[in-house]
Amino acid sequence: MKPKEILVFGASGQIGRNLIRKLTKNNYKVIAVTRNIHQKGYILKTQANPGYLEIVELERLSEERIRELFKTCSICINLIGILYEESKNQFKKIHSKLPTLLSKISKETNIDQFIHISALGVENAKDSAYATSKLEGEKGVRENFENAVILKPSIVYSIDDNFTTNFMTLLSRLPLMPLFYNGETKFAPIHVSDLTEIITQVILNQIKNQTIECIGPEELSFKEIIKKILNSIERKRFLVPIPLPIAKIQATLLEFLPSFLQGGRKQLTSDQLRLLKYNNIPSKRYKTNLDLQFNPKLKYFDKEILKYSYMWKVGGEYSKKKSI
Ligand SMILES: NC(=O)c1ccc[n+]([C@@H]2O[C@H](COP(=O)([O-])OP(=O)(O)OC[C@H]3O[C@@H](n4cnc5c(N)ncnc54)[C@H](OP(=O)(O)O)[C@@H]3O)[C@@H](O)[C@H]2O)c1
Repeated sequence: MKPKEILVFGASGQIGRNLIRKLTKNNYKVIAVTRNIHQKGYILKTQANPGYLEIVELERLSEERIRELFKTCSICINLIGILYEESKNQFKKIHSKLPTLLSKISKETNIDQFIHISALGVENAKDSAYATSKLEGEKGVRENFENAVILKPSIVYSIDDNFTTNFMTLLSRLPLMPLFYNGETKFAPIHVSDLTEIITQVILNQIKNQTIECIGPEELSFKEIIKKILNSIERKRFLVPIPLPIAKIQATLLEFLPSFLQGGRKQLTSDQLRLLKYNNIPSKRYKTNLDLQFNPKLKYFDKEILKYSYMWKVGGEYSKKKSI
């Protein structure tokens, strides 16, 4: 049987790489779109068996080229997203205009499914440009293609994430960890394999016209997450609540410091600081994956991060277990 073709935008990212593996194992053919095939090709190529993955380079996401790609696919998944704005990478363009365009083309070309990945906890964060742009994107998708599925994950973690691994690095280098808003903001971290399973189930069950909040089994405060990470890398650090005016100065300084001086990514921006004020847990406006019986298999955040945190321990993989 000829496998169904799935067009994936943002395929080289954390969720995309893991998703390609799952989809191709399930006999789907994936067309992965990237801006730079030379930079991202080697990461993408190894995610699938020969014949199941085609990599397409679109340096600029021109409507004409996108329309060409839609001719061969029956499902489109949009995973393109950014954490902060930089030169031409602006929230409005990436989070609002692009999903609106993709959903419009999905409707016009009458494809089976359009799955758009947005984010959890953006409804209340009206003072965050990230959040409002994500919401605007959701609105555009819903208006253009009623059958679309919008998935709103909380923090997604895995060995190749930008979240736990970044904190493991920071916590192993810094003598103390600043806590914004007393570290009380809540999250429902979901492992990337559980999220990609939800996406696969949405496809297999041909789910349409749904918005689903995607959460893991635990609800943890930022402080609890940091403590679990510290425990897993066997380090002790001072956790220091930072008054908001000082946090704002810190965010402004880090926002203007070039990314290459911050490990390749901005560690904090003013917009992220504002977003951090809002809990990242189900809003009760939409169903969650749990309501749909898409239950996460990986239940405990600390057990999962322990599987890869050894690289940040003193002595690495062969370090002796310390009791801390
Ligand atoms: N990971 C999380 O914790 C999390 C939580 C909530 C929501 N989400 C959302 O889930 C989606 C996927 O997240 P992720 O963690 O997999 O993201 P990621 O690792 O940062 O990857 C993002 C992808 O977006 C593409 N991209 C970035 N800027 C682009 C631009 N200007 N034009 C075209 N493509 C661009 C990149 O592709 P190329 O460089 O190959 O072109 C990259 O593959 C995003 O929308 C994100 O907001 C993620």
